[in-house]
Amino acid sequence: MDGLRVLFSAAEIAARVDTLAGEIAHTLPADFVMVGLLKGAWVFVADLARALERAGAGPEIEFMQLSSYGLAKESSGAVQLLGDIPPELAGRPVLLVDDIVDTGRSIAFAAAQLRQRGISNLWICALLDKPQRREVEVAIDFVGFTIGDVFVVGYGTDYAEKYRHLPYIGAVE
Ligand code: IMP
Ligand code: MG
Repeated sequence: MDGLRVLFSAAEIAARVDTLAGEIAHTLPADFVMVGLLKGAWVFVADLARALERAGAGPEIEFMQLSSYGLAKESSGAVQLLGDIPPELAGRPVLLVDDIVDTGRSIAFAAAQLRQRGISNLWICALLDKPQRREVEVAIDFVGFTIGDVFVVGYGTDYAEKYRHLPYIGAVE
């Protein structure tokens, strides 16, 4: 696609997701719930779930939907909860999964929501981490790839709702 430079190919992502799944299966208790953040994490959650099965784990899958970007490349800073998790998560160990941690506002907001709902233990997993962009401190337990201050699309992530279907992660030039 024009104006996109491939940062991580489909094969590189698949290999990294398998390794992450091994680490997660080894660290978390057997009965954990994976909570994905929509929409960006949808592809990552689907691949990670199946990699977790190969790694011997059988998580339940839930989603929360947050919104902050609208159609812009820069976060508006205001995070909203559009779709919530079911109340049965109280007392459960949770793996919160997002595509990208940028300023950290979304993941911090989601983590606070989950803690308010009385989950027992929380781990955070992000496919991509942009530490240079951080405005809110968050401890990420499992990171796929650390990247610089670039805007990326593909593998679930978008620019103005485009490119989510790409099998690779590309940097917008
Ligand atoms: P944060 O709240 O600033 O950390 O933003 C995190 C959310 O913004 C992620 O869940 C992504 O969906 C989205 N996001 C951050 N950086 C990018 C990017 O480079 N491309 C596409 N979406 C991004
Ligand atoms: Mg997102």
